[in-house]
Amino acid sequence: MPTMTLLAPARADAARALAAGTAVIGLQWGDEGKGKIVHLLAERHDAVARFNGGANAGHSVVVNGERFALHLIPSGILHKGVPAIVGNGVVVDPEQVLKEIATLSARGIDCSGLVISDRAHVVMPWHKAEDEAREKWLLQAGSPGTGTGGLRPIGTTKRGIGPCYADKVQRATAIRMGDLLRPETLLPRLQAICPLKAALLGALTGPGAEPPAEALDPHAIAALCARWAAGLHGHIRDTSALLLDLIDSGKRILFEGANATLLDVDHGTYPFVTSSACAASGIPGGAGVPMSSIGTVLGVCKAYSSRVGGGPMPTELSGELADKVRTRGREFGTTTGRPRRVGWLDLVGVRYAARLNGATGLCVMLLDVLAGLDEIKVCIAYDGPGGRTERFPPDGAALEQVRPIYQTMRGFGGGSGGGGGADLTTARRLGELPPGARAYLELIERFVGVPIRFVSVGPDRAQTIEIE
Ligand code: GDP
Ligand code: IMO
Ligand code: MG
Repeated sequence: MPTMTLLAPARADAARALAAGTAVIGLQWGDEGKGKIVHLLAERHDAVARFNGGANAGHSVVVNGERFALHLIPSGILHKGVPAIVGNGVVVDPEQVLKEIATLSARGIDCSGLVISDRAHVVMPWHKAEDEAREKWLLQAGSPGTGTGGLRPIGTTKRGIGPCYADKVQRATAIRMGDLLRPETLLPRLQAICPLKAALLGALTGPGAEPPAEALDPHAIAALCARWAAGLHGHIRDTSALLLDLIDSGKRILFEGANATLLDVDHGTYPFVTSSACAASGIPGGAGVPMSSIGTVLGVCKAYSSRVGGGPMPTELSGELADKVRTRGREFGTTTGRPRRVGWLDLVGVRYAARLNGATGLCVMLLDVLAGLDEIKVCIAYDGPGGRTERFPPDGAALEQVRPIYQTMRGFGGGSGGGGGADLTTARRLGELPPGARAYLELIERFVGVPIRFVSVGPDRAQTIEIE
């Protein structure tokens, strides 16, 4: 009965297509407000899954006036009953997870739905030490006059992200979450790994600055791993199998992107990027799901730009205007507390990111922050070595070379400037926004070529305009 064997997979495909989930992906350099959108959409999905990054992410969610900061646990945890899955592509700092569980539990959040992939790699103490040491080395190696070809610190979050992903790819000295559950094989591995890490760190830091011997003692590290295992063993399992089962039974998954497209290790402003696949293309690998499980790709962007750490940012502002935007947007890192660099909206970068992700909808966030400015500039092209271009060069050195070409618009809202002094934070429909703000959104939609699905006018969940 050949038709029977053909029809069964066809039905499964159809079920999968119907159940296709949603990806929430940052279109700039991070901190676009992904956490707020994930929280908003969690109740329309059956599970929320992270697929990339680690504790370098900081997702702030405001629920009933209460602010939560999540780094490794998916923002979906704030919705009772929605499983929060940390996929195999995430690098997990167990200490941070335990801290987050403790903080959330103390605030009445049920963390029993947290599931962590047994194949997710563990951020070990030496990864954080190496991250810090490499940044110091880059600072020294790149100082003027040393002739080292313009090396500069990346400005990492020092959460051990790069060194942990490097170990993952190198394989021999990597440790995965599942290894924590096998202490009998873990100790001999630690006995082999620790001296090697001590030697590597010593070479990086130089004599006298090496980590203290006890920091890399295999028995001490094994004890640390045992504590992590005791706290997390009930959460560790094969998350790809779990997600595949959910998808096969018609459940919809919400994929929570961390970091952002312009920080993607392949498609961002390399080397000023993070170490994971942050774009939607990272989902199948980082969560262990088929591409067909993603039906909707929501690209999240701020109404302006922000960036933390080093690297080019063509529309960066300085002085009083930058301070004003930074203060109004509370632009201080959720993870490191560092003041974020801010700038005008760079539509060249946003359009590039939207195309790369195959964005089906846009979420324009923090529109309220721009209210009250006399004029607003938007970057619509670059002036580069080859003349005017609307193409985004996904390379740090190439992006350094461009200058923004702006379209200038009258300001809106906020009681001064053009467009009638409305307070944007109370708008719940597009028609309640001042005409200038609507014109701004129309420009974004037209330039990027993707419809806007959400406009955010304040951190609270209620301060959102959903466009059907
Ligand atoms: P994520 O990393 O993409 O989740 O973003 P972050 O949480 O790091 O940064 C976004 C910040 O903007 C957080 O402090 C949010 O509470 C806040 N936020 C989100 N949407 C809005 C908005 O529409 N207006 C304002 N004023 N703040 C917002
Ligand atoms: P969310 O998910 C903003 C930046 C760091 C640094 C570079 C490399 O909150 O949007 P890393 O520690 O990853 O090696 O640092 O990437 N970075 C982020 N910036 N938001 C993030 O995450 C970021 N994750 C990494 O500041 O410039
Ligand atoms: Mg953030």
